[in-house]
Amino acid sequence: MKKIGILTGGGDCPGLNQAIRGAVYKLHALGFECVGLEDGWKGMIQAKTVPLDVDIVEDLASRGGTMIGSSRTNPFKKEGGVAATLATFKKLGLHGLIAMGGEDTLGVAAKLFREHQAPVVGVPKTMDNDLSATDYTFGFDTAVSVAMDAAARLLDTGRSHRRVMVLEVMGRHAGWVALYTGIAAGADYVCIPERKVDVKAMAAAVKAAHARKKVALVVVSEAIELEQDGPKEEKLDEFGHMLLQEREVGEQVAEIIEKETGIETRHATIGHIQRGGHPTLFDRLLATRAGIFAAELVEDGKFGFMAALRGNDMVAVSLDEATAKLKTVTLEWFGILDTMCRIPGGNTVKV
Ligand code: F6P
Repeated sequence: MKKIGILTGGGDCPGLNQAIRGAVYKLHALGFECVGLEDGWKGMIQAKTVPLDVDIVEDLASRGGTMIGSSRTNPFKKEGGVAATLATFKKLGLHGLIAMGGEDTLGVAAKLFREHQAPVVGVPKTMDNDLSATDYTFGFDTAVSVAMDAAARLLDTGRSHRRVMVLEVMGRHAGWVALYTGIAAGADYVCIPERKVDVKAMAAAVKAAHARKKVALVVVSEAIELEQDGPKEEKLDEFGHMLLQEREVGEQVAEIIEKETGIETRHATIGHIQRGGHPTLFDRLLATRAGIFAAELVEDGKFGFMAALRGNDMVAVSLDEATAKLKTVTLEWFGILDTMCRIPGGNTVKV
């Protein structure tokens, strides 16, 4: 029986267990044997495995997280990391490897395939929804649902106390989580990294909303730049990404709003709560399909490819194309956002 490895790397997200389950079921049906690599690329470097078969994954239909663990390990940044990873293919007798991850994990997979012809296929996941080759990544729908619920709760307490409420959400350098949450929850202003925060416009929108409703909601994406941000020493992970939660931009925005409007303002950061819990129906189905499709890519020998959602179809996209650029919020969304936040002039932006 040919053996296929499965790993999950980078920040976890709801749907990973369902993708593993889909892949293992399909691989089993196709006559392959499966093994999990523990904690992402770290498991490949150290040849550390987790048993995987249909009975083990059967109960994963609704569980959040990833049963094989994840990490932000980058073999290309570790002394001997690439050689050890390649050696693990031989040592474990892996015919192929399914790497489930975002731009970082898939970036490693793309490079291993390009430079060393490693037999890798990809499954895209991330709550940030920032992979350009696929319409959606699983994890995003659940994360936004959690954020939307948090926003509704903040509005309830804010309404009672006649306050402005600021909700900070994750999403890294793409504002999708903040944008979708803001529109769906009825926010009065949304700060995203793709657009400079206009403090005067924000204060005016908040004041007007508060005058109408005695409450206002602002959703802030973690990677926004504020003018008051001076040069700071930022801590970076192995992929060179800033640790954004430490910037506390939600708190800073709340301070700015209170200063500019004179209205009592509170903030909340929901952080990793967005990454836990049962995945939504959409994420469970997308993840399961992506896992199954990846197994089919392995069966067809289509290494160097990734499962992507285009419309309602799963298609194969090369890992190089999939990791070439990030998908960030486009101009047409600015118009939708301004219209829904009742920003003067917002209605004039054609979509
Ligand atoms: O990429 C997913 C994500 O949740 C980002 O939105 C966030 O900036 C980051 O991961 C947090 O990473 P960690 O779990 O390592 O703190």
